[in-house]
Amino acid sequence: DSEKDLKTRPPVVTVMGHVDHGKTSILDVIKKSHVQESEAGGITQHIGAYTVTVNKKKITFLDTPGHEAFTSMRLRGALITDIAILVVAADDGVMPQTIEAISHAKSANVPIIVAINKIDKPSSNIDRVKQELLENGLMSEDWGGDTIMVPVSAKTKEGIDDLLEMINLVAEMQELKANPNRMAVGTVIEAKLDKGKGPMATVLVQKGTLNFGDTVVSGVASGRIRAMTDDKNRNIKKAGPSMPAVILGLSDVPNAGELIYAVEDEKTARTIADSNREELRENRINSGSKVSLDNLFDRIKEGEMKDLNIVVKADVKGSVEALIQSLLKLSNEEVKINVIHSGVGGINESDVTLASASNAIVVGFNVRPNINAIELSKNEEVDVRTYRVIYDIIDDVEKAVKGMLD
Ligand code: GTP
Ligand code: NA
Ligand code: MG
Repeated sequence: DSEKDLKTRPPVVTVMGHVDHGKTSILDVIKKSHVQESEAGGITQHIGAYTVTVNKKKITFLDTPGHEAFTSMRLRGALITDIAILVVAADDGVMPQTIEAISHAKSANVPIIVAINKIDKPSSNIDRVKQELLENGLMSEDWGGDTIMVPVSAKTKEGIDDLLEMINLVAEMQELKANPNRMAVGTVIEAKLDKGKGPMATVLVQKGTLNFGDTVVSGVASGRIRAMTDDKNRNIKKAGPSMPAVILGLSDVPNAGELIYAVEDEKTARTIADSNREELRENRINSGSKVSLDNLFDRIKEGEMKDLNIVVKADVKGSVEALIQSLLKLSNEEVKINVIHSGVGGINESDVTLASASNAIVVGFNVRPNINAIELSKNEEVDVRTYRVIYDIIDDVEKAVKGMLD
């Protein structure tokens, strides 16, 4: 798109953080106080994505019930999110999923605004939260850093307007633009099979405008949009850049995180979907599409990869740090080793999801994957390796890098 076609678009803001720190509560407050009068009466259907208007400016929010939505979006390389709101409860402080959320946002290169929530609680301690965030690489502006941290309470509504103001400020600096006058390109946020209505997808339009009646493709799914509703379940005729919409009319249930785009006609759509299906089948056959220590060297030789991404988990902080130090030293001219996420504790689903999205392997020292992580690593073909001797990890990675692993 040429410069003159680009129009300002609303920011897309993803709310992340540890369980029960108040993500949904904050969004509820924002929805209730900033949804226009005419919209307020209707029952809001939760679709995980919706748009509010603050000081005449639109903001699209994505609530994250888990990390999956966010990582599968990253998987497409589409930076669907412009800003991440990291919610940290002031009484609970930085917790494992807070740290994971920081890793997700950082690896997606998305600016973080911290909402320090639950400041109404007597046990809240804002400075302690700032200190813990500092230990995890985020320094508050008032401490001389560059991370905006806004104390809020979803209960008393204190600070929520400040948070919205900061979002608009950061969004303005980003100068977000897209061409609304072209065929739509977007991402599937959620999708499910509705018993009565068939495949149902919540999409976020990123470029162009999605129209009722458009023919779209998303992976192996294709079809003509025969119903389109907004985040309040009202029928709409079109959705422009940064706007979410729920669509009906697809042949199959698309994958969350998958690209979706409009094409000329249904024949084109079916041809593309069929070829995607064929490609998927081939990929399954030539598995090893994901990196493992076993196929690493071949892929380096083939010029397919120049980076080995690793997620590191260990039982104690000292081991995590020792492992990272040793692994980073194994980089050579052919391959650069990146530790994309690390942490103390067992290997969980989120570690595997992050690894899958970033084509990484997972190494654990004195820790095990939980059942869900094992299950997921099988489905996603993520190489998860656990060790009892640190030297063995270093040895295996070193051999893999040099093509000497048996
Ligand atoms: P998950 O989606 O499960 O990860 O949780 P969440 O982060 O969306 O948290 P949720 O909004 O469900 O809130 C969790 C609990 O904290 C609920 O009982 C809320 O009522 C409570 N809560 C949220 N915000 C505040 C707050 O500012 N003050 C107080 N006192 N309680 C809050
Ligand atoms: Na909750
Ligand atoms: Mg929630």
